[in-house]
Amino acid sequence: MATAQDKKILQELQAAVRTSLKARGFAERQPQGLFAPIEYTLQLGGKRIRPMLCLAAAYAFAPERWHEALPAAAALEIFHNFTLLHDDLMDRSPLRRGQETVYRKWDDNTAILSGDAMCIEAYAALGELEAKALQPELFGLFSRMALEVCVGQQLDMDFEHRSDVTVAEYLEMIRLKTSVLLGASLQIGALLGGASTEAAERLYRIGVELGLAFQIQDDLLDVYGDEATFGKPIGGDIVNAKKTLLLLYTQEQLQGAQREELQRLLDLSPEERKGRIAEVRALYDAVGVRAYAEGEVARLSQSAYSELEALSTSVPTLEAEHFGPLRLLFDSLSGRTH
Ligand code: IPE
Ligand code: IPE
Ligand code: MG
Ligand code: MG
Ligand code: MG
Repeated sequence: MATAQDKKILQELQAAVRTSLKARGFAERQPQGLFAPIEYTLQLGGKRIRPMLCLAAAYAFAPERWHEALPAAAALEIFHNFTLLHDDLMDRSPLRRGQETVYRKWDDNTAILSGDAMCIEAYAALGELEAKALQPELFGLFSRMALEVCVGQQLDMDFEHRSDVTVAEYLEMIRLKTSVLLGASLQIGALLGGASTEAAERLYRIGVELGLAFQIQDDLLDVYGDEATFGKPIGGDIVNAKKTLLLLYTQEQLQGAQREELQRLLDLSPEERKGRIAEVRALYDAVGVRAYAEGEVARLSQSAYSELEALSTSVPTLEAEHFGPLRLLFDSLSGRTH
């Protein structure tokens, strides 16, 4: 049961993330041509899920010392935002968090170089952790995760040009491009809180499962969301012929003329598909893909939640109540409310 205290703690963690990002001084650093786009992106906020997972995991194991994980939380959020600068350029997406994307507001070169600087800044932040003994391990797992994100992103791009992507390949692609970052956020927070290697790895796996649900939910919102709250253009994945779970399931379910119609739409250029989003969506609706994908999101997030519950009661040194903020965070991510 979530308590008002858990909610208050999450608010405290959120405020600390905001302050620690602000304190990096991107608004003042020169040249502003490099740093202003970083400040612009970070101050637009976003949900800040990754640093929150990190801090809530640190809190679960060391409620008195969660703030020691702040440099890692900043590193995770800055790294995430770096991937967004490059992702928006690669996906040619005009809008993020309801505002113009960096490559549109400035130019392609700015998105590339400010993105690169953010990736480097993420490592600099990790280097500021006081837990020096843990640093080699943390740098190792951060680097492995970062490279996996690049691999996942490459697969995502490759799949645009393939018509034989399987659901298993899709799941592996989203595990890499999205889930490992959520997993690593929990794992790093847990290690900084003093968790055992085993408990931290368990949290990593829980985060990966949550991440799969999270990316499928993002794919769903890309088709069925509301642009005002989603903050990104609706139908972008359809335009780019992204091989999302929604598309793969629909391809598999459609028969005859409708199947051919979908193929014809996929054979168009992205530019041509811009005016045909509603037709693709109508085919999605015809097979009930929304209910199917929502079911998958619920199944995966429920499973991640249950494993978190099991972990919080299985480790003898832990006080289950310290997991309250993390549990509440999981709840809010899976759309459950209290
Ligand atoms: C966007 O991540 C990229 C995905 C992995 C879907 P978020 O949905 O966490 O974006 P922000 O940071 O809240 O804007
Ligand atoms: C998210 O992929 C993964 C990364 C940013 C690496 P998307 O392309 O679906 O993310 P959004 O929808 O643009 O946020
Ligand atoms: Mg994108
Ligand atoms: Mg993308
Ligand atoms: Mg998306």
